[in-house]
Amino acid sequence: MNQKTLPLLPESASNLAPQVDALMGAETLFSVFFTVLIFLTILFFAIKYRRKSEADTPPHIHGSLVLELAWSLIPFAIILGFFAWGARIYFRAYSEPPGSMEIFVTGKQWMWKVQHPEGPREINELHVPVNKPIKFTMISEDVIHSFFIPAFRVKRDVLPGRYTTFYVTPTKVGKYHLFCAEYCGTQHSGMIGTVYVMEQSDYERWVGGSEESMTVRGEQLFSQYACNTCHLPDGKGRGPSLVGVYNSMVKLQSGEVVKADEAYLRESILNPRAKIVEKYQAVMPTFQGQISEEGLLQIIAYIKSLEKAGEEDQQ
Ligand code: CUA
Repeated sequence: MNQKTLPLLPESASNLAPQVDALMGAETLFSVFFTVLIFLTILFFAIKYRRKSEADTPPHIHGSLVLELAWSLIPFAIILGFFAWGARIYFRAYSEPPGSMEIFVTGKQWMWKVQHPEGPREINELHVPVNKPIKFTMISEDVIHSFFIPAFRVKRDVLPGRYTTFYVTPTKVGKYHLFCAEYCGTQHSGMIGTVYVMEQSDYERWVGGSEESMTVRGEQLFSQYACNTCHLPDGKGRGPSLVGVYNSMVKLQSGEVVKADEAYLRESILNPRAKIVEKYQAVMPTFQGQISEEGLLQIIAYIKSLEKAGEEDQQ
C-alpha cells in the first residue's frame, strides 16, 4: 500500500480496477449529492412552511403531473445510466479477451488450490504474469466459496458441481491479498492467500521446470481409470472417440445437440447417463466420488488437448 495516499481503496492492480473504481466513485458522488440536496430541501421547506400562527391552515394541493414525472423519470434515467455503465464492466470481466492464458482454482474447506496448465500446483498462493489476460476456471470440492482479490476488483462465487469463470489482466507487479468472501465454515476467515504478480520472464522461470503438465497428468488418469479402453480414438470402442470433441457439437440419443464444453465433459464423467451420445449405449460407470475436482480438471485438460489434427497419429 502506498503510504502517501489515504488507504481508502485497495491497490489498483488490474485492468478492471480503474473501471470499477470510477463507477463506484461516481455512484458515491451521486448518492452524496442527492442526500445533501434532499436534506437541505427538507430543512428549507420546514422553515419556509412552518406554522406561523394558530389560524394558519395550508391550502389543499391536488398534485402536479409535471412534478411527478420529473421525480420519477430523472432518477430512472440516472439509475439506467449506472446500469449500462456497470453492464459494460461486467461484460468485460466475463467475456474472453484474445490471447488469454488459463488458471484453474479449486476451493475446499479451507484452502485455495491452484493449478497452472504447465504443471505447477500451489496452495493459498497464486503466481501470475503481469499484463497477460487470464481466464480463471473455478470449482469447489464442498460448499460455496468466493474467490476475492481486492486489488484486482474481482470477486466470484466458487460453486460445488459447476465451473465458474472470469477474466482479468493484472497490470502491476506486486504482492496482493486473496480472500474467501463467502462464509464457508469454521475456518472461513483463514481461507486466505497471497497473489504474486510477476514480470513475464520471472513467471516463465517460475512455471518452467520438471513438473508434469495438467495434460500429462490427465493422460495418466485417463489410463488409470481405464477410460482409454472404451474411448478409442477411432470411435470404434464402446464409448465415443474424444478426439476433437472439446467445443464441438455433440448429437445425443434424444436428438438434442449440445456443446461439449468443460461442464459437459465433467458431467459425462460423473453422471454418464445424463447425456448419451447418439449410437452409443449407456454402459459407462459413474466416477462420482472417485476423482477429485483437480483430477477432473486434469482429465478435461487432456481431452481438450486431443485435437483433430492429431487424429492420424492416434490411429
Ligand atoms: Cu471458503 Cu469462506
